[in-house]
Amino acid sequence: MMSEKILVTGPFGQIGSELVPELQKRYGKENVVALGHRHIPEDYDGVLETGDVRNPEEMSKLFEKYEFTQVYHLASLLSAVGEDKPELAWDVNLNGLRTFLDICKDRDVKLFWASSIAVFGPTSPLDNTPQHTVLEPTSIYGITKVAGELLCQYYHEIYGLDVRGLRYPGLISWKQEAGGGTTDYAVEIFYEAIKKGEYSCFVKEDTKLPMMYMDDAVKGTLMIMDADPEDIKVRMSYNHGALSFTVKELEEAIRKHIPELKVHYEPDKRQKTADSWPDSIDDSAARKDWGWEHKYDLPTMTEEMIKNLRKKFGMD
Ligand code: SER
Repeated sequence: MMSEKILVTGPFGQIGSELVPELQKRYGKENVVALGHRHIPEDYDGVLETGDVRNPEEMSKLFEKYEFTQVYHLASLLSAVGEDKPELAWDVNLNGLRTFLDICKDRDVKLFWASSIAVFGPTSPLDNTPQHTVLEPTSIYGITKVAGELLCQYYHEIYGLDVRGLRYPGLISWKQEAGGGTTDYAVEIFYEAIKKGEYSCFVKEDTKLPMMYMDDAVKGTLMIMDADPEDIKVRMSYNHGALSFTVKELEEAIRKHIPELKVHYEPDKRQKTADSWPDSIDDSAARKDWGWEHKYDLPTMTEEMIKNLRKKFGMD
């Protein structure tokens, strides 16, 4: 087997901090390069480079140095922070992607791009949202993800680039806190339930969104990158589904472990973005094309989150 050299951008974000250790386990620590930007965790153990994904010269130099065979391009501004900084969201999300599309198109590199359920908008079907449907997002984040997906498809069609992507739902994890997204409430509620027994939620209790436990998201990411190129029929990004629940249902699932939990609902401007996204998505294309299967349901995800966060805070 050809040895792999892997670049991960956004390696210390919510997804990267769980994906990088898995890649290190699979391919060897020396073969996974984390591209840090500003914040580098002190306990990071692995190969580190720093740079800006928007700078093609800087990124090209890294490719000369390491001859990467795979890139996981995760660096991105999320939906809530994107609404506060739309120009920066456009710049990082799209110029960052262009850098890697342009570098990878002339090389034998597999490129992964992180898309999102944010590609959908108020005119997309709300329930079981299909793979191929109306994409008229209203958040700048969603707009960058649709444009990015189209660019990925274009580079595949025109240059034969092996680019693969997932429309992640809200991701729930305990290692690294979520940052700047609309679905962050589904992570924050666990932290606050454990630390204070109380949470003030920024969306309404009947807000229902597609969600997934991080272990499943990492598994899906590795699965799509392992798949035979012939099996990747979608070169925009695949709907990637697992769970779907309202905040109230999540609250009740947590209350089975933390009966005293109190949740207040104080919706803010993030409600509008949440309302524009699907309640649930149809990920049958991913299941059929490359065998996607999720493992965690609401009760098992809740149990894992609580067990691991209690351990993390020394409360077990
Ligand atoms: N979790 C992301 C967000 O809320 C969606 O991709 O922005």
